[in-house]
Amino acid sequence: MLQVNNIDVVYMNVIQVLRGVSLDLGDGKIAALLGANGAGKTTTLKAISGMLKTEEGKVTEGSILFDGKRIDPYGPEAIAALGISQAMEGRRVLEHLNVEENLLIGAYCRKDRGGIKKDLEMVFQYFPRIKDLRNRTSGYLSGGEQQMLVIGRALMARPKLMLLDEPSLGLAPLLVEDIYQIIHRINAEQRTTILLVEQNVNAALGIADYGYVMENGRVVLGGPADQLRNNEDIREFYLGLSAVGSRKSYRDIKHYRRKKRWMG
Ligand SMILES: Nc1ncnc2c1ncn2[C@@H]1O[C@H](COP(=O)(O)OP(=O)(O)OP(=O)(O)O)[C@@H](O)[C@H]1O
Ligand SMILES: [Mg+2]
Repeated sequence: MLQVNNIDVVYMNVIQVLRGVSLDLGDGKIAALLGANGAGKTTTLKAISGMLKTEEGKVTEGSILFDGKRIDPYGPEAIAALGISQAMEGRRVLEHLNVEENLLIGAYCRKDRGGIKKDLEMVFQYFPRIKDLRNRTSGYLSGGEQQMLVIGRALMARPKLMLLDEPSLGLAPLLVEDIYQIIHRINAEQRTTILLVEQNVNAALGIADYGYVMENGRVVLGGPADQLRNNEDIREFYLGLSAVGSRKSYRDIKHYRRKKRWMG
């Protein structure tokens, strides 16, 4: 469904941020995009949604295909109209509008009024808390509530592909579990394909089919999520789960491996 082929991304004609990034995401699947701060995860999502163009960013090499059709030359509206919706990092709600108005903005591309009404109920069913707050000014919502609202708004577009940027950011552990269960349900019940950016590796790999690890603007590792979950290199070094607690880069792992072999 989604194919990112070897893309380079450059900001302001000079700052190269992505180098040869490739991703492949099948219909109805969930993929997790992992990696440290500044690795290029958000930039990758913006390249797919066309949002880059609003930030003086450009895909300078490679291509992005959605349902077999090339989309990287398109702007964000055209891409949204094809069925791709992005829930941005950092809970971007329109603070002065109420909750229901924010949700309806997610449906701005649509004309099927009946369907929109039905989907509003669907969002309320996934997020009952949001239903209770439907008339509340969005700016007064708590962080977790805003996070739900942002995901709900992305759902209101009835996307085929949903791009979620750090949906668990800043949430209490219990709420992280809730959000992930809901994302999993949305995938299963609505058959929405999902590309998920996360720092919370366990939560993301817990529901994902595939995982990709980014470092310094490249994908350094990719594969089925259960393989990544059990991959010792990743657990110990890359994903910061080591007993020592220090995060090392993937390059360090390779050096370490080589050294170990060399030392016998
Ligand atoms: N509009 C921009 N102009 C110039 N550089 C940018 C722009 N947006 C991002 N960058 C740079 O690109 C690199 C990758 O940023 P990106 O936001 O994609 O990282 P990320 O993996 O999402 O990190 P985080 O986990 O911190 O959100 C960073 O070095 C960042 O400073
Ligand atoms: Mg980011």
